[in-house]
Amino acid sequence: MNQTAFGFGLGLRAEHYRDFIDRRPAVDWLEVITENYLVPGGRPLANLDRIRRDYPMIMHGVSLSIGCTDPLNRSYLTELKDLARRIDPWVISDHLCFTGVDHTNVHDLLPLPYTEEALTHLEGRIAEVQDFLGMRIALENVSSYISYQHDELTEWEFLAELARRADCLLLLDVNNVYVSSVNHGFEPRRFIDAIPAERVSHIHLAGHEDHGSYIIDTHDHPICDGVWDLYRYTVGRLGPLATMIERDDNIPELGELLAELDIVRAIRDSTELEPAAVGVAG
Ligand SMILES: [Fe+2]
Repeated sequence: MNQTAFGFGLGLRAEHYRDFIDRRPAVDWLEVITENYLVPGGRPLANLDRIRRDYPMIMHGVSLSIGCTDPLNRSYLTELKDLARRIDPWVISDHLCFTGVDHTNVHDLLPLPYTEEALTHLEGRIAEVQDFLGMRIALENVSSYISYQHDELTEWEFLAELARRADCLLLLDVNNVYVSSVNHGFEPRRFIDAIPAERVSHIHLAGHEDHGSYIIDTHDHPICDGVWDLYRYTVGRLGPLATMIERDDNIPELGELLAELDIVRAIRDSTELEPAAVGVAG
């Protein structure tokens, strides 16, 4: 398994199975939602195996709950490892969050307090997961709508320090940076400036629902101008990192997403790298 991707990808959705099987459009890799393929047998897994023949894959989960205080779910980790054996992903990723407490899953990606205590807690759990899987994992910055009074670090300081201490990778979601910057009123470029490029497995881009004074991260719209601008800045600062588009609702024809991916390519090709970004692997 590799540890980072290159080029340009899309999130694989059931609506596009046939397109990928029949037409084999030119994307460099596909990111699959882990939980969709943990049930043994059945049509989703058969489609996955078929599509895997033509495309490298990245696994992206929503159930690890790395920040939770319950013990790690060993049966989930075993299923994760089994799926990884099956599709040999470049990257295994999940979110930097917790999804519940006391064995109750609320199926939401809840932000963590950015404290020394949380760093220590995460460091041990990430080590346990990485030892079990035999590879580093990538953790994604989530969109958030609340913060904690006892935060000791900014989110970007927390991410950079966590990656260093836990020796994990970061999945940088530029849309989530933008969403949280509006919701919390920070300068999104400061976030990007703090991210260590060599730790980034790949970048997510997506659309959202803009309510003016706040944004809901819905993944049901095309990418907006503000996110494109921030992506352009990100490429200039961090280099030509692997990038993909995720769409989870209001899913269009595949051609529409491929056209959006052409914009990603054009931005990467036309953005001048800052001196510090030159030489960063794509
Ligand atoms: Fe994302």
